[in-house]
Amino acid sequence: MTTRILRSVAVPDRLVLTLPGAVTAARAHCQPDCFAYHATWRLFRHTGLKGHPGWHAGFYAQALAAHPLPTYRPVRVLICAASDEMMLAVLTRLIGARRLLVTLVDACPTPLRLAAAYAHRHHITLTTVRARAPELPDWHDCFDLVITDGLLSLLPHPHDADALLARLTAALDPDGLLLYTTRIAPTGTLEYDRLGRAIQATTARLAWPGPRNERRSLARTVRTRRSRPSPFNSPDDVHAAFTQHFRDVRLTTRSRPHTLAVRLHPTTRHGAGSISIGVAATHPRSQP
Ligand SMILES: C[S@@+](CC[C@H](N)C(=O)[O-])C[C@H]1O[C@@H](n2cnc3c(N)ncnc32)[C@H](O)[C@@H]1O
Repeated sequence: MTTRILRSVAVPDRLVLTLPGAVTAARAHCQPDCFAYHATWRLFRHTGLKGHPGWHAGFYAQALAAHPLPTYRPVRVLICAASDEMMLAVLTRLIGARRLLVTLVDACPTPLRLAAAYAHRHHITLTTVRARAPELPDWHDCFDLVITDGLLSLLPHPHDADALLARLTAALDPDGLLLYTTRIAPTGTLEYDRLGRAIQATTARLAWPGPRNERRSLARTVRTRRSRPSPFNSPDDVHAAFTQHFRDVRLTTRSRPHTLAVRLHPTTRHGAGSISIGVAATHPRSQP
């Protein structure tokens, strides 16, 4: 009963793109398995503890400069999963709100809600679709740009990454561009993973809209959940995965930390910090 009352609270558009607004949206829309992630995401983004599309904006800008998108009609973009509105904001900055015709897919309604509020505020044409990759809907039109940050590392089964890549390739126009960004941690765990889980667990305990025993149990699950191993151990692994599906794959790597928080982390100071990887892929193999 308590759960139903709390979860029915709606967040007004003008408040949703704030830290408390995102927590309220997560309380209203998230399932237990993603609540702590989405409720805390904004905090991690603002403090520079976790990677987000803003970190890769320089890579996206270079890739888009090398692969001009249509100018005589709107640019059809598929964003495959995003924690919040940040990817939409980056694309708006790089391509322009009025040129964009965006479809955003995510497994959870919370990021779809945040992105819809951003799109409304910035006059961007956005369609939101709730779907769980690697399953994706059949699209009416092909996309000029397919873009996804980090998703391949979040899928539950080892073969899912390849299945998703096949689906994204099929969704792309033969002249289109696929951009993928991720981070690889030489230690196997990204910076601030343990601190991140502690903050997420505390948030679950304090803010999950359910009774106390449910909040405690969710907090325990979040605190003890092992981070999912990345399907890629090296930039070469990433390159190999994409060349299965594309004839032209360009890889960019960066080991310089994106934020002060990452620069100060002990693994970075010991020379074992995470590496950012950007993939720009064109000429899908499945298409002429
Ligand atoms: C792909 S990552 C994006 C992270 C990126 N750093 C960002 O800031 O946008 C996280 C998002 O993926 C979504 N997600 C996780 N697994 C998914 C799946 N199998 N299908 C669709 N969305 C998924 C989560 O709901 C979350 O919003």
